[in-house]
Amino acid sequence: MKKKGRFITLEGIEGAGKTTQLAVVRHYLEQQGINVLTTREPGGSPIGERIRALLLDPTGQGMAATTEMLLLFAARAEHLLHKIRPALEQGTWVLCDRFTDATYAYQGGGRGVDLEQIAMLEDYVQGPLRPDLTLLLDLPVASGLTRAGERSAPDRFESEAERFFEGVRARYLALAELYPQRVRLIDAGVSVEQVSLQVREQIAAFLAGGGR
Ligand code: TMP
Repeated sequence: MKKKGRFITLEGIEGAGKTTQLAVVRHYLEQQGINVLTTREPGGSPIGERIRALLLDPTGQGMAATTEMLLLFAARAEHLLHKIRPALEQGTWVLCDRFTDATYAYQGGGRGVDLEQIAMLEDYVQGPLRPDLTLLLDLPVASGLTRAGERSAPDRFESEAERFFEGVRARYLALAELYPQRVRLIDAGVSVEQVSLQVREQIAAFLAGGGR
């Protein structure tokens, strides 16, 4: 069946403020009378959430990068089947905290997985489905990690060294260059109010540009 809703994703390194901005986007869209489903990756479905727990478990050190990537795409397959596609087909907009750009950034940029392998799995699991709009919240790694460190005990990803996150950030920025139409860069290194303002501007531009 043809997709009718729009698919919007939020991306960024840890501590970029995705959770706060997800609420901002949701609120903005709902004010326009749009039906929105918010969800996240890895997770978003019952089996996906179990896979998420496995992926984030800090005792799982030493997991092969290939295992990690396959688990992420396995969770994504569940999410697409049970949640994302049905919502889009009903005309509901899907607002997702991370999606496949995170795989390019974390597994590709962070772990050094071959980008072509990621692209292969992306095609296999998603077919032609890609987000319509991606907001990339960008900020220096050190600031993000400081913010994230104030929140809770580190999960398996948060335990990685700063160098890993530099690779993640660089790959995210490369995606923004590669897909300037879809991936919108937001400066997340400023106050929450200023970040929210940029986010609302991007959503307004998307709606005005026929996103709706
Ligand atoms: P979260 O803390 O933003 O919910 O994300 C959980 C972690 O999963 C985060 O450290 C990034 C990581 N992740 C990947 O490594 N690859 C992916 O494809 C996704 C979706 C998340």
